[in-house]
Amino acid sequence: MKIGVFDSGIGGQAVANALQLQFPHAVIQVLNDKQNVPYGSKSPRLVLQLTETAIRPFLDGTFDVIVLACNTATAIAIETLRAKYPNQKFIGIEPMIRTAAGLTKTQTIAVCATPATLASDRYIALIQRYGTHLDIIEPDCSQWAYLIENNQMNRSQIETTINSLCERGADVIVLGCTHYHWIKELITTIAGDMVSVIEPSEAIGRRVENLTKAT
Ligand code: DGL
Repeated sequence: MKIGVFDSGIGGQAVANALQLQFPHAVIQVLNDKQNVPYGSKSPRLVLQLTETAIRPFLDGTFDVIVLACNTATAIAIETLRAKYPNQKFIGIEPMIRTAAGLTKTQTIAVCATPATLASDRYIALIQRYGTHLDIIEPDCSQWAYLIENNQMNRSQIETTINSLCERGADVIVLGCTHYHWIKELITTIAGDMVSVIEPSEAIGRRVENLTKAT
């Protein structure tokens, strides 16, 4: 099995690592767009254009599936890419609102994601479908992808945000940007045992399995 994994930056590698553990024999190639990361504060039009250009090497028909391991690119580009390349299978990645809705006891969740993801129609549709009864906190994480990409994120910045979410009663924190997978452990430590920190690496693995079985 040959899988292409794309993200604007280092988030893709986190997802690729998780997939490689689940599919040890798969050939996994990772592409990013270091020249243009971060995508999260760019316009939808530009994100679409950059994503399509960046994944071009994956569009040669040899990949069983292309994983857009980027919430931002998925939110903005996946429908267009599926329509334009109907013979290519794509898997996207989205904030786990449905799972969070099932887990929360306080009915308060936090979604950490880029501004472009939070503003997207796909995200708004997810909230309308699964989250209208919830109090959803969307903290300002607009600098996080840049800081993580450049190894400049420090514990106190994360602590300030996570502590404020916990004080407001959030008991589920959704990591809605693959860059944040790299700091999941730290977020989990800061948030403590009463808070679930969730991201979809395992779910993507299941999706890859189902989609490639169907061929
Ligand atoms: N890692 C990406 C995501 O999952 C985007 C980060 C960025 O380029 O702003 O949304």
